[in-house]
Amino acid sequence: MSTIKTTDKEKVTIPYLYDLKERGEPIVMVTAYDYPSARIADEAGIDCVLVGDSLAMTMLGHPNTLSVTVDEMLVFARAATRACARAMVIADMPYGSYTVNADEAVRTALRFVKEARAEAVKVEGGVSVAPVVRRLVMAGVPVMGHIGLTPQSLAVMGGFRVQGRTAGEVRALLDDARAIEDAGAFALVVESVPAPVAAAITRALRVPTIGIGAGAECGGQVLVWHDLFNLYHEHTAKFVRRYGDAERLFAEGLTAYAADVRARRFPGPEHTYRVPERERAAVDDVISG
Ligand code: KIV
Repeated sequence: MSTIKTTDKEKVTIPYLYDLKERGEPIVMVTAYDYPSARIADEAGIDCVLVGDSLAMTMLGHPNTLSVTVDEMLVFARAATRACARAMVIADMPYGSYTVNADEAVRTALRFVKEARAEAVKVEGGVSVAPVVRRLVMAGVPVMGHIGLTPQSLAVMGGFRVQGRTAGEVRALLDDARAIEDAGAFALVVESVPAPVAAAITRALRVPTIGIGAGAECGGQVLVWHDLFNLYHEHTAKFVRRYGDAERLFAEGLTAYAADVRARRFPGPEHTYRVPERERAAVDDVISG
């Protein structure tokens, strides 16, 4: 077992993640996009909070991740970092923000570090993105990679489809993984690939893999907040396990609140403010007209 307990308030660092890998202990990552959810994740002992561009869909209602902007991502990332005393916060660089040229990628990544106080950024892609990862790392920005199902390449992949199902695809994934590691990434998300393929990628790398729909042999796991708590219904992947029903909780709470307001059961006397005794007569005078 790790000597570093999940209740410790010490910040999760890259060496700590390597330490977990070394000990064979899984890294736990979850997406969280705002102050309250990031605070709950942090206090629950989650190691890494990912401000994923999935927020385009889960928080902003877009059909995919492509239209969220850097400025929008920064607002969410800033909220999450304010909340996390222990968890490492990683911000997704959105579609188009790191592929035009490496200089622009560096400038944008530095905004995530300086303006949002993110501790790392995540970029999607393999061999073709490796030169950008190298430039970001050279600029001092820790980078997490992301291969397999990469939602920013939705059109190229022809939808949210499992990757690495043919020998050719598996070879390409291994090349992608090694290229991202060689470029200096400190960890790699592997999404929606068969478990034995993710296990092979994990064995091929020195840095930890973090799986989502990639089996149990990755160095860690990540799930999306809204999938964990039944808050997103447009698309639920096979790999999701639900750990709570926030939608039901919220719906029941709101129904009860509306009923109380309509029946004048809320607010009660305990929710109202009083006029100080010494002002009572004067105030009564004014309000009675
Ligand atoms: O944006 C996101 O939520 C992600 C995770 C699915 C890894 O990239």
